[in-house]
Amino acid sequence: MNPALAELHDKARAVLDGVHYDFFAGGVGDEAVLAENEAAFRRLALLPRVLRGTGLRTDVPVLVSPTAFHKLAHPDGELATARGAGDTVVVSSMASTVPIADVVAASRGPVWFQLYVQPDMDVTEALVRRAERAGCTALVVTVDSPVFGRHRRDIEHGFHDLPAGLAAENMRDLAGVPGPRSIEMSAAVSWEHIDRVREMTSLPLWLKGVLHPDDAEIALGHGVAGIVVSNHGGRQLDVVPASLDALPAVVDAVAGRVPVVLDGGVRSGADIAVALALGATAVGVGRPVLWGLAADGEAGVRRVLDVLREEFLHVLTMCGGRLTRDMVVVRGPRC
Ligand code: FNR
Repeated sequence: MNPALAELHDKARAVLDGVHYDFFAGGVGDEAVLAENEAAFRRLALLPRVLRGTGLRTDVPVLVSPTAFHKLAHPDGELATARGAGDTVVVSSMASTVPIADVVAASRGPVWFQLYVQPDMDVTEALVRRAERAGCTALVVTVDSPVFGRHRRDIEHGFHDLPAGLAAENMRDLAGVPGPRSIEMSAAVSWEHIDRVREMTSLPLWLKGVLHPDDAEIALGHGVAGIVVSNHGGRQLDVVPASLDALPAVVDAVAGRVPVVLDGGVRSGADIAVALALGATAVGVGRPVLWGLAADGEAGVRRVLDVLREEFLHVLTMCGGRLTRDMVVVRGPRC
């Protein structure tokens, strides 16, 4: 992990209530996938190319992955995240503790709305309309969550409700929803629901949580604008590969037809470079943003993204300005 990010993580752990820290940090089951997401990057190295004369690049393909309940990390919650993100795309969780309209208003850059298809399609449509009215520029439907992941740390702490005064604000005052605490998952969601969401809106529709290359191919047939290769930060199923290890097959299946974003375990600029070399168009960052937010609010979020950006551009320049799969090698001797 980048040392500046490690420092923010330590500070976040020190300031957060232990139960809330564990909610953010934890994963499903034995947390094997959680650990794998980071370990997968450590197994790989980059063989730089020299003398390419490509000069210095400035564009950094990073976005903020959707994570729930930012007011557990900082009183300003998602407003601080949106402000700290600057021009970076923020994918705002449906389970936000600030209404999506306020997140968009606080943000300088694009905000995309992350959605779990709700069992009641009228509720789903009402959420899509909220995102449209707020000014979101894309929808990201998370498809790796037919049910909630079982997080041992939360179970041990008995943590299942937001503290008084906090709520999933996007769910407030929706017909058919008992109150702003009820986000539902649905094991009945299918490709047909994806079609229905796509027909509801002209916003570009991304799918998040695709790991199987065949699902990527099917998704393209359903008109998706992009795919996020993700295992939900190791929070859904504790037997899947690291996101990074699932990436190349999805990239091959997609074959450049739509962008492919990778999230899970990105903790340094070098990690971003490895993901891009394996064919990702961009990476998403989840927990590091939460650590920045908890440690120092808006400024902490800004710092996380600045550190990643700066380090990535350095690595990119050192690698000759272009990143391709042939430059990725497994660590250890080659004979
Ligand atoms: C998440 N993630 C997530 N994803 C999503 O689609 N909707 C959500 O509401 C949430 N909520 C959430 C809460 C917390 C506390 C975490 C840590 C993660 C998953 C998230 O978008 C992303 O896939 C991972 O966080 C990426 O892994 P890293 O960067 O945290 O390793």
